[in-house]
Amino acid sequence: METRTALVTGAAQGLGLEFAVALAGRGYRVAGIDLVPQPETAERVLDYVELIADVTDEEQIGAALERVIDQFGTLHVLVNNAGVHPESAFEDITPDEWRRVMRVNLEAPFLLTRAVLPYLKAAGWGRIVNIVSAAVLTAPPAMVAYVSSQAGLIGFTRSLAAALGPSGITVNAIAPPSMVRTVGAGRTVGAEGGFEHISAQQAIPRTHEPSDLVSTLLYVVDEGSGFVTGQTLNVAGGSAYL
Ligand SMILES: NC(=O)c1ccc[n+]([C@@H]2O[C@H](COP(=O)([O-])OP(=O)(O)OC[C@H]3O[C@@H](n4cnc5c(N)ncnc54)[C@H](O)[C@@H]3O)[C@@H](O)[C@H]2O)c1
Repeated sequence: METRTALVTGAAQGLGLEFAVALAGRGYRVAGIDLVPQPETAERVLDYVELIADVTDEEQIGAALERVIDQFGTLHVLVNNAGVHPESAFEDITPDEWRRVMRVNLEAPFLLTRAVLPYLKAAGWGRIVNIVSAAVLTAPPAMVAYVSSQAGLIGFTRSLAAALGPSGITVNAIAPPSMVRTVGAGRTVGAEGGFEHISAQQAIPRTHEPSDLVSTLLYVVDEGSGFVTGQTLNVAGGSAYL
């Protein structure tokens, strides 16, 4: 079998870093996109292709993808992981802030999917994985824009799965709990009472680590998972149920 190739967005830290390392460990050649340089990812992933680009910008996506294809010649897996998760009272969300959240969390996966699709189709095999959040189930009051964007991404996952199934491409979503221990979550966890407070509300009463999501990612991209599509896999430690 030819070596599979993967593109992970938001790969500088947190879940994206963990996903890039896990895919490389499984033998994938990996490229990562982020707004910032990704030294830790580059250190841990052999032959890592580091791309600095904004996933909401179509031109920057195009240029980044050109580099991926130059290096790999082909592409099989897209992990739409880059996201923003701001918290604020509903009355404080300005229209600009609402649009920013929608652009990064919902429009960017559309733009990236659109850009990579010709390569996945040419390969005759593809896996698209969207990282969403179990916050769509718990619906915290201070995350109205975020929850709306994530619910949209679940709808995108289902409908896109139907559209791309005939091309041999599966599309699935993975839903972590509302707080996984990452730098990004660390910035907002105070408002939720801290990681310990959140883990006490789960069936599995410990803090969720990025590594807790790896087996699910590897499962959905697996060769043998070709019949798993349009699903949202809830990996939330029993904090919320679909
Ligand atoms: N950490 C959690 O508690 C948690 C829980 C549920 C879902 N999620 C989802 O998982 C994903 C990753 O979360 P995380 O905690 O690792 O996030 P994080 O904030 O730690 O990292 C996100 C990365 O995405 C990058 N990024 C943001 N906007 C970008 C843009 N426009 N273009 C390119 N890169 C961009 C950032 O630079 C950063 O490196 C997000 O989509 C988030 O919504 C996270």
